[in-house]
Amino acid sequence: MSEIDPAVRTLPVLPLKNSVLFPNLLMPLSVGRPASLAAVAAALASEGKEVVIVAQRAASVEEPAQDDLHAIATKAVVRKMTRPNESMMELLVLGIERVAILKLEHNGEYLEARVRPVPLPDDSGTEVEALRRAVADLATNAFSLVQPQAPAEFGQMLGGAEEPMRMVYLLASLMSLEAAKEQALLEAQTCAAALRLMHTYLSHEVQVLELRSKIANDARNEMSREQREYLLRQQMRAIQQELGEKNPEQADAEELRERLEKAELPEEARKDAERELTRLERLPSASPEHHVARTWLELVLELPWKQTTEDNLDLKRARGILDQDHYGLQEVKERILEHLAVLKRNPDAKAPILCFVGPPGVGKTSLGQSIARSLGRKFERMSLGGMHDEAELRGHRRTYIGAMVGRVIQAIRRASACNPLLMLDEVDKLGRDFRGDPAAALLEILDPEQNKTFRDNYLDLAFDLSKVFFITTANSLDTVPRPLADRMEILHLSGYTEEEKAEIALRYLIPRQLRETGLTSEECILPQETLKRIIRRYTREAGVRQLERTLGRVARKVTLKYAEGSESAVTVREEDLGEMLGAEMFHPEKMRRELPAGVATGLAWTEAGGDVLYVEATMLPDGKGLTLTGQLGDVMQESVKAAQSWVWTHAEELNVNPKQFSECGLHLHVPAGAVPKDGPSAGVTAAVALASLYSKRPARGDTAMTGEITLTGLVLPIGGVKEKVLAARRSGIRRVLLPKANQKDMRDIPEEARKEMEFIFVEKIEEVLAAVIPGIYDRAEAGVPAA
Ligand SMILES: Nc1ncnc2c1ncn2[C@@H]1O[C@H](COP(=O)(O)OP(=O)(O)OP(=O)(O)O)[C@@H](O)[C@H]1O
Ligand SMILES: [Mg+2]
Repeated sequence: MSEIDPAVRTLPVLPLKNSVLFPNLLMPLSVGRPASLAAVAAALASEGKEVVIVAQRAASVEEPAQDDLHAIATKAVVRKMTRPNESMMELLVLGIERVAILKLEHNGEYLEARVRPVPLPDDSGTEVEALRRAVADLATNAFSLVQPQAPAEFGQMLGGAEEPMRMVYLLASLMSLEAAKEQALLEAQTCAAALRLMHTYLSHEVQVLELRSKIANDARNEMSREQREYLLRQQMRAIQQELGEKNPEQADAEELRERLEKAELPEEARKDAERELTRLERLPSASPEHHVARTWLELVLELPWKQTTEDNLDLKRARGILDQDHYGLQEVKERILEHLAVLKRNPDAKAPILCFVGPPGVGKTSLGQSIARSLGRKFERMSLGGMHDEAELRGHRRTYIGAMVGRVIQAIRRASACNPLLMLDEVDKLGRDFRGDPAAALLEILDPEQNKTFRDNYLDLAFDLSKVFFITTANSLDTVPRPLADRMEILHLSGYTEEEKAEIALRYLIPRQLRETGLTSEECILPQETLKRIIRRYTREAGVRQLERTLGRVARKVTLKYAEGSESAVTVREEDLGEMLGAEMFHPEKMRRELPAGVATGLAWTEAGGDVLYVEATMLPDGKGLTLTGQLGDVMQESVKAAQSWVWTHAEELNVNPKQFSECGLHLHVPAGAVPKDGPSAGVTAAVALASLYSKRPARGDTAMTGEITLTGLVLPIGGVKEKVLAARRSGIRRVLLPKANQKDMRDIPEEARKEMEFIFVEKIEEVLAAVIPGIYDRAEAGVPAA
């Protein structure tokens, strides 16, 4: 009977895995299963192009049978078909009406169903109308939550769906409901039931949407200005990218990142640098923080963390370079070569920390440069003189405004190798105050145990300084903190003799000065005698700096002569010097040859080398006690007192009237009065001055002396013999008295000086007096009693 029911039709079936087609609605479909393709083909071949679209109960079934499909389906018309390839069809189908599947069969090619329309009963009435309005309101509400700007349009659209079922289906298709819920709507028995279902779905949806917008709101409020800027910046970047533009900031960050990837960094440094780079990308480029981060990153990227220069360990070549650059200085050169030899055997050997001590201008700094050259290392130099602030060495923490990296790391950065020769000049002039103690920082820098992980405050990363070859220089060791001196290998560079100076001048200084002025050695001739005169009369120093300057002046004067038209070679004769350099500044011959009674010639060691120093004593007829002037230090004052006591207790032997001691005051002065002096080595000189004063016999002006004395009249050894002897020689003194215990130091005295000078070694003050004050013991010998 149903066979003859005209409404019952047999149509090809198209099963859907995840969705439901509602009547009156268009739906795009992609078809791929062979049976479905065949079904569509059959439908397209038929006159009405009709198919039955039915939802599967489970999406996973590939070849569904009747049990796998819902019983209520939708009859549809294929409106459009395109076929991108053999195994695919793109369809546009229009739902026509609800149908019930009566029977389903596979005809070998595709599924065929016998279906009958199941229209909804007409239940329009107040209840349906009320439900319709409630649903419409809820839907508008939900839509306004999704799209706050344009709810009006949506209202219009719903208004167009006056008929309640149309509205339900439309909403369902818009809401992306689960397939099961859509099927339930399709299967609803009455319009009212469908509206009720829709109402529950919508209320649930509204709740979810409300919650979602609340979460979004909260989050938006929490988002700080910075984050918002970041988001905007990201968007701007996206836009710029879209437009094919690159913003400079981003390009900059990209470049940094590229460099970071290529750079050879230790793990810790890489991690920190990456973190900082990420931060940098978020910071607005105009902000000071951006600048700070960028400067820091530059530093990290530029530092030679692992770059080293290769040492040139060719000893012959090294010796050649050292000799080529400096005359003499054998001991120091040997020490350098020893170190090279060690490095050759054991490349991991720790570099020694050398300390060159010596007067100014003896070549400490330039020797450092020469060592770097012979080793093939980079040379960097910094002066510690007057440095007070620890942060200068070690840097300021980055959090301070204007913070800078410390000088050590700066030097390493300039060297662009982590094993340079780093010269720390003037360690003896380190300051120290409330800003911290740079010596303490220096201790850490120079300590091989600690400098492997040297931490600059600014860099805030451990940097390995253990490969750095440190050389420090000082004029005197007295003010170098003990712990610092202990870490270093001290090498003394003493002053030069006249002959050495002449040699240095001939080999290095004159050629250099000529080069500077553009003269050749044929154009400017400087005979030996002239050079000697310059050394003697125009300079007085341990080193050769003043000499070099003076030679420079001579060279410039000669250049001027050429400029003024001179054509023949210029020979600088001794007589010309007055005109070129002005009056002679030092007159060795005119040294106080004739000393009055009460004056004695001593020798002192100073930072600038040795010096001749006079001790002057006089009696004050109405005075009392002992007056000492000339800025004498404690030790010197004490040794003067010891000398005084010795002379007083030996008055008789010296033929001195002891009354003078009690009746007159004593004034002892040591010029130059403005220069502070200290040390025990003037004891002997003071004793001679006093003995001369009281005995009224002048001391010999051609003799200088040095030595400490005891109350019992013993002469004790002193330091700086070489410097003192050279100073005496510079001053034209040819006779020197030295403590016997200092005889061993004679091997340091240059050959020429030894040949030219007379040295008298003494153990007791009596020997000194006998040698320096002619006739002091005469009367005693003659048996004449003191007056
Ligand atoms: N033995 C030498 N041979 C060649 N040149 C020398 C020698 N000694 C010093 N000089 C030259 O003398 C000049 C001064 O030397 P330098 O600046 O190294 O002195 P310094 O010891 O570092 O003095 P300061 O203690 O004042 O720093 C340099 O031009 C250097 O080349
Ligand atoms: Mg120097």
